[in-house]
Amino acid sequence: MCGIACYVGKNAGKNCFEALEKLEYRGYDSAGIAGLENGEICVYKRRGRVNAIKDYALKMQSGVAIAHTRWATHGGANEQNAHPHLSFDRSIALVHNGIIENFQTLRTELLMKGIGLSSETDTEVALNLIASESGTLKEKLKKARNKLVGSYAFVLLDKDGTIVAARNKSPLYLAKGQDGIMLSSDVLCFFSLYDSFYPLSENDIVEIKNGELRVLNENLQEKEISFKPLSKSEVEISLLGYSYFMEKEIHEIPKVISKIESHYKSGEEFEKIKDLFSGIDSIAIVGCGTAYHAALYGAKVLENKLGIRADAFVASELKYANKVLHNTLGIFVSQSGETADTLGCVNIFKERGFKTIALTNNTHSTLARLCDQTLPVCAGVEIAVASTKAYVAQILVFTFLAYYLSGEKRDILKGLSSKAKKLLSIDKRIVKDIKSAKQVFFIGREKDSVTALESALKLKEITYKSAEGYSAGELKHGTLALIEEGTPVVVFASVSCLMQKTLSSAEEARARGAKIILVAPKTQKDTKCDYFLSLPRVDFEE
Ligand code: M6R
Repeated sequence: MCGIACYVGKNAGKNCFEALEKLEYRGYDSAGIAGLENGEICVYKRRGRVNAIKDYALKMQSGVAIAHTRWATHGGANEQNAHPHLSFDRSIALVHNGIIENFQTLRTELLMKGIGLSSETDTEVALNLIASESGTLKEKLKKARNKLVGSYAFVLLDKDGTIVAARNKSPLYLAKGQDGIMLSSDVLCFFSLYDSFYPLSENDIVEIKNGELRVLNENLQEKEISFKPLSKSEVEISLLGYSYFMEKEIHEIPKVISKIESHYKSGEEFEKIKDLFSGIDSIAIVGCGTAYHAALYGAKVLENKLGIRADAFVASELKYANKVLHNTLGIFVSQSGETADTLGCVNIFKERGFKTIALTNNTHSTLARLCDQTLPVCAGVEIAVASTKAYVAQILVFTFLAYYLSGEKRDILKGLSSKAKKLLSIDKRIVKDIKSAKQVFFIGREKDSVTALESALKLKEITYKSAEGYSAGELKHGTLALIEEGTPVVVFASVSCLMQKTLSSAEEARARGAKIILVAPKTQKDTKCDYFLSLPRVDFEE
């Protein structure tokens, strides 16, 4: 995934930069921006986070800018491969999100025509293909599109200042205000700036020329479009005294719990989707990364409460599991609602006539539009790349849904917010031990095994340290060999009926020298361990 932004109007560089800050969750290997200076396209790109281009972007005088934050797919994460790319004749710059699948063939054809390439990217190939076509920029793009296989959201800047944009499978949104026009990979860039937006259709070509916006169909004829209202959501980009967005967002979790409670307690939202659960053979819950972990959790809680088979799938693997889908309800989990692998899976369900639910933090997203119904996760905008509050929100919505549909208990989140508040500090000695360890293990059983997986993912993503999450019972089947004197093993033991089994797994690790960090109800505080983190009593779990 990558994030792209474009602004036409005053302070184009600044507006693009601020959009990129919100898009950083889509990739953060390198960033770049292009605008016009003395009739030439000027490009500035740097390896690393978007902050690396901040000073340049804020000083830009150009009335038009295109910008990009990259997650490397073709070619390493370096300046050469960073976007925007400039065409061989320096007449067009391009930012791209997606993957051009036939880029090798096209690359060879371009090289044979004598068109040199300076990066390893599929984007530069697509750009030079476009640049080598004849006609105006929109005509060039129209012709080149027929030769491109794969996914893309393109925003092109012509050296005469014209912007042309189009998409296929990757998201692209448009918003127009009094001061300017913006294109971006996520509506989140529009919150608090615009009150409506337009999601580009796959055949659209957007042209912004001399400040005039036109949306064209595949034959380049102007088409009528209608903007969709954008609900009021503030995006808090300032850290409000925290050092990192991740830290700030973790501290927002109690507030998020209260929001979920008030959003869902009437049961109205669940009533809307209730019928989708009747008469089905199974439920498939689909997501990537953290969202996949929420799917694993959701599958456990739904299967347990409803007695319907529920499986979690990694989105990029679902197509290989096609055979097991029979009369299946699809639930698609995504914080952003714009993850290509997850979006790709919705069609598999639609083609088979299965119903679909989006469980997302972005109710304006492509995912929300594609699915039959949406369950908002109410986490508020998540800026940090590492998902925290959205994950907690996702598993709580699943839990709330499962209890509601089972008819068992409907006020499960009562009192949870204030309990969560008490968990927001940690013994600094644990941090020190984890910091100095070569690797860290997280273990747990049943739902706690999902917490173990998610914790390991988070630690890897944030510290670049080796971390693994396991079902506690699996540790003895080989992995124990990696446990050395002092290796931290975090043991999640929240499920009371599995307590003894989990504690004996912890004991196995301790016998090999592991430092045990036990996370369990306070009734277990006398258990042998190096650190004990007490879990509050959660009424609905008893
Ligand atoms: O926006 P999504 O929830 O669809 O994103 C899916 C994953 O890329 C995401 O959950 C990722 O694993 C997290 N940022 C990790 O913290």
